Amino acid sequence: MRPDRFTDQVALVTGAASGLGRETALGLAREGARLMLFDRDAGGLAETAAQCPGALTLVGDASKAADVEAAVTQAASLGPLRLLATAAGLLGPVRPATEVEEADWDRLFAVNVKGTWLAARAAFPLIRAAGGGAMVAFSSAAGLVGSPTMPAYSASKGAVVLLTRSLAVAHAAEGIRVNCVCPGSIETPMLEETFASAGDPAARAAREAVFRARHPLGRFGRAQEVADAVLYLLSAEASFVTGVALPVDGGRLA
Ligand SMILES: NC(=O)c1ccc[n+]([C@@H]2O[C@H](COP(=O)([O-])OP(=O)(O)OC[C@H]3O[C@@H](n4cnc5c(N)ncnc54)[C@H](O)[C@@H]3O)[C@@H](O)[C@H]2O)c1
Repeated sequence: MRPDRFTDQVALVTGAASGLGRETALGLAREGARLMLFDRDAGGLAETAAQCPGALTLVGDASKAADVEAAVTQAASLGPLRLLATAAGLLGPVRPATEVEEADWDRLFAVNVKGTWLAARAAFPLIRAAGGGAMVAFSSAAGLVGSPTMPAYSASKGAVVLLTRSLAVAHAAEGIRVNCVCPGSIETPMLEETFASAGDPAARAAREAVFRARHPLGRFGRAQEVADAVLYLLSAEASFVTGVALPVDGGRLA
């Protein structure tokens, strides 16, 4: 932790009510940022905000342009917006592509892909006006290699990687750096959802063992370990880093 790394910088964090978005928000708050927190989960959002002095919150849907634009407008009331972290995301159906429902596919892409784009579209004019800044999107290790059990999720996270790279090259001249993190399996409610969907306790234990074995470090990651990478990418320490999809995965993709 470096207490002054983000002093008085305004940051918008989506998905801030839980897991990796919450941990990112707490890290930014500890290091001096002024926070706008956005999520569809009012209770979780209030819990995060209670630990982030001065934070504003907005309950909304990351896949709805009007909601995302309202969050960006509210963020601007804190000062010039410089930082954006888009952690709002869904796991979606854990089943083969041939068994995925059309509505589930559409919802997954609406939140994971369109939601990331909507946040960039709304925030970048303000970040440009502030003189530049940085965005970190949330892809996944499953956005860099195929997933037999979560094909829809994997496809959506692959799209996040190329959206990240496209935004990075398009907005570099405006002083906006754009990167994404590609976490392996990290201990959050989403990972719990992945295991719970396996069914009975034996199936759950088997899935957990398969997921753990994918990580050469021999364990799942902690939310703090991803937030540390996000904060690095948002910070001036990463001033020459843009267009990167950074695995934070215990060696899974090595
Ligand atoms: N936990 C992991 O193992 C892991 C691995 C790789 C990538 N990721 C990605 O990291 C991000 C955060 O995941 P997490 O593990 O913290 O999950 P999580 O389920 O704990 O948190 C996700 C948050 O996003 C919010 N959200 C979902 N849909 C939304 C919507 N339409 N509008 C607004 N908010 C919405 C949820 O309410 C929740 O607070 C996600 O994009 C996820 O895909 C997680």
